[in-house]
Amino acid sequence: MGRRAASIDEIQYVFCGAWGSAAPAMSMLPKSIHASTNSAAPLAGGQPIEATTLTLPVMQQQYQLVRNPERSFTLKLTDAPVRRPGPNEVLVKVHSASLNRRDIMIVQQKGTTSQRDNFVPLSDGAGEVVEIGSGTTRVHVGDRVAAIFHQNWLSGRRSPIDGMLSQYATLSEQGLVTLPSHLSFDEGATLPCAAVTAWNGLDVYHRVQRGDYVLLLGTGGVSIFGLQFAVAAGAKAIVISSSDTKLQRAKELGAVGTINYHTFPEWDKKVRALTGDIGAHHVLEIGGHDTLPHSLASLAMGGHVALIGGLSGFSGEIPVMALLGLTGSASGFNVGSRADFEAMNSFIEKYRLKPIVDHVFDFTEAQSAYDYMESDKHVGKVIIRIAGRDPGSPSI
Ligand SMILES: NC(=O)c1ccc[n+]([C@@H]2O[C@H](COP(=O)([O-])OP(=O)(O)OC[C@H]3O[C@@H](n4cnc5c(N)ncnc54)[C@H](OP(=O)(O)O)[C@@H]3O)[C@@H](O)[C@H]2O)c1
Repeated sequence: MGRRAASIDEIQYVFCGAWGSAAPAMSMLPKSIHASTNSAAPLAGGQPIEATTLTLPVMQQQYQLVRNPERSFTLKLTDAPVRRPGPNEVLVKVHSASLNRRDIMIVQQKGTTSQRDNFVPLSDGAGEVVEIGSGTTRVHVGDRVAAIFHQNWLSGRRSPIDGMLSQYATLSEQGLVTLPSHLSFDEGATLPCAAVTAWNGLDVYHRVQRGDYVLLLGTGGVSIFGLQFAVAAGAKAIVISSSDTKLQRAKELGAVGTINYHTFPEWDKKVRALTGDIGAHHVLEIGGHDTLPHSLASLAMGGHVALIGGLSGFSGEIPVMALLGLTGSASGFNVGSRADFEAMNSFIEKYRLKPIVDHVFDFTEAQSAYDYMESDKHVGKVIIRIAGRDPGSPSI
């Protein structure tokens, strides 16, 4: 398997990232090779490409993260060769990529560390297969695919790999899943990290019962997917947010209860009141240090806290009595496997769920996408559109 989501694996997970806006930027599309041999031609499976066989571009534009004097990273648009697929690899023309909070953390080097320079950011992206290497059987030219977050989940080996903020990505055939048929590329690009994490954190098929209370913290990528999955599964979702406007959006998406955590810093008491003192059966814990005590205090008898994020710090205590007395549980999640992604896609297809795309930025506006994501104005996902218009998605 090849791989993709950039990696900072040194960073512990892979990455995700950027948003783009609508315009296709055709002028930026790579140029196809026209005729004679080009000494700058990329390698095909490690071998020089014969120019006469090329129908695909040899060069492309992509963003890379370049280390700056402050030891964080700066986003840089650059020309790069298109690597032709080797055995069991495929070349994906990337149409859209999406940002996750970790992409901001990677740029800022907060909570993550990486020795690697000049890598392509953003774990999440979707596109179409335009070429397959020898022996490839899982996908075909023309397939609409998304890259899985942990490209090396199957082999158990982890190594840094480039991400999706690039016009083309050469990936292992094992590292792809087919997009749900009703989703656009923009929507498909939202799925690999936040959606799969929310899916696994809730364990919709095995853990969530119709009528359960599900508590979602904030209105970002993970939590909004959690809200959509909970509602589709017949559970009762409660959302907390810093913004009444965002809470109104959560209600429109099916939340039965909403709490402004600025107005009610001890929001766990509100959760208990809203649930008739039952508490939440499931919590997607994305806040970490500051929110964990409140999440535990919100828990129902036999409830489960999915430990996912650390927006206020990746630390915190779980007092034994907090779980013991409730016969509750807490467990950690690191996105999920390809099988998890495929199970989630079946659910999305069954319920015709549409990811919530807040904003679509153009490929040339990647830095603006990062800035917007960092501003916390979004509800759901922020997209960077790389190729063409995507009529299925809202634009700016
Ligand atoms: N373990 C994993 O595999 C995994 C996978 C994906 C993400 N994560 C982690 O999960 C977290 C969220 O990621 P994301 O991509 O969904 O981020 P995101 O889209 O940026 O959403 C973050 C949202 O969290 C809310 N928030 C911030 N501080 C809060 C607080 N103190 N209490 C409650 N809500 C708060 C805000 O919502 P409002 O504006 O509505 O207040 C904010 O918009 C990050 O820490 C990320 O690293 C982990």
